[in-house]
Amino acid sequence: MRVTVFGASGVQGAAQVAALSRAGHHPVAVSRNPKALTIDGNNIETCAADFTDTDALQRAVKDAEAIFLNLPSTSFQPAEPTIAAAKAVGEAAKQSDKKPIIVFNTSMPVPVESKGIEAQDDRRTMRTLLRSMDLPVISIQPVCFLDNMLEGWAWPPIRDRQTIVYCHKPTLDVSWIALDDVAQLMIAAMTRPELAGRDFPVGGPEIVRLPGLAERLGKAWGVELGYEHQTVEDFCVKIEEAMRERSGIDGGVLAEQMFRAYSWYNVSGTVVDGVIGRSRISANVGCRMHPRSHSRSIWTLC
Ligand SMILES: NC(=O)c1ccc[n+]([C@@H]2O[C@H](COP(=O)([O-])OP(=O)(O)OC[C@H]3O[C@@H](n4cnc5c(N)ncnc54)[C@H](OP(=O)(O)O)[C@@H]3O)[C@@H](O)[C@H]2O)c1
Repeated sequence: MRVTVFGASGVQGAAQVAALSRAGHHPVAVSRNPKALTIDGNNIETCAADFTDTDALQRAVKDAEAIFLNLPSTSFQPAEPTIAAAKAVGEAAKQSDKKPIIVFNTSMPVPVESKGIEAQDDRRTMRTLLRSMDLPVISIQPVCFLDNMLEGWAWPPIRDRQTIVYCHKPTLDVSWIALDDVAQLMIAAMTRPELAGRDFPVGGPEIVRLPGLAERLGKAWGVELGYEHQTVEDFCVKIEEAMRERSGIDGGVLAEQMFRAYSWYNVSGTVVDGVIGRSRISANVGCRMHPRSHSRSIWTLC
């Protein structure tokens, strides 16, 4: 299938482009200034489009049978441009002859009822907006990305002293999910148009606590990995520094939002409420996970 991937230069979109290409689909990788891209030696079609550029968006979705919609954060910048971006992509999809299915990666949990966390509420607004345009939208709602371990706010203590430092309390059950697996779920979803209108909270193959995460990652990496429970306050300082370095984003606003989100995770006792486990994914999205068949999990359509 020809699949237009928005946010393709970000970590989430990049994983989806690679997964689509490896699965024999034709991804079109969209960002504002795309660079030449190859996956396993295959050239990937790229398209330059800013969310504010209607013509460019129409070019980006031309002939697409599916759209993978990844949107930038509203945690640390005003929400309006990103909500407008969702609308603009929706309008471009509406104009397209192929009537592509939109697989919307909310990038975070979106509880059914608002928890007063604006970033989550913004995602709900975007989803509602797209559906109000009478577009076929499947919403994939992942929890924490395992790949966060490689980000600037988490990687240094792993690299320097073999310790995972994270603000999850040690008794918090977390269904970490790898971005590769989010991508596989989105691929599985795009071939099931009957799922339009559905929202899928998704997590990884196992629910682990911080000690379990350290044990599993340590085993996979062949190192003794410790863990430390960091306060939410300290986590927010680190993420603020990392994001400022990455993109000059207003870290103060980010830190406040993150503080609320991570405090909510910790007090809610679990981040897996409502998350689809393996058996239900199999039933609902049409894929099956084989967590132990390789060093990382594999999804297959069933
Ligand atoms: N669940 C988790 O564990 C977790 C972890 C990290 C992030 N997140 C969430 O994921 C979301 C996205 O994260 P992020 O911002 O860090 O993503 P990111 O990886 O930096 O990617 C953002 C993407 O959006 C594109 N983009 C930005 N502005 C654009 C515009 N005006 N027009 C077209 N494309 C544009 C960027 O492309 P160019 O800049 O190259 O044009 C890039 O490809 C956030 O809501 C964040 O909170 C969740």
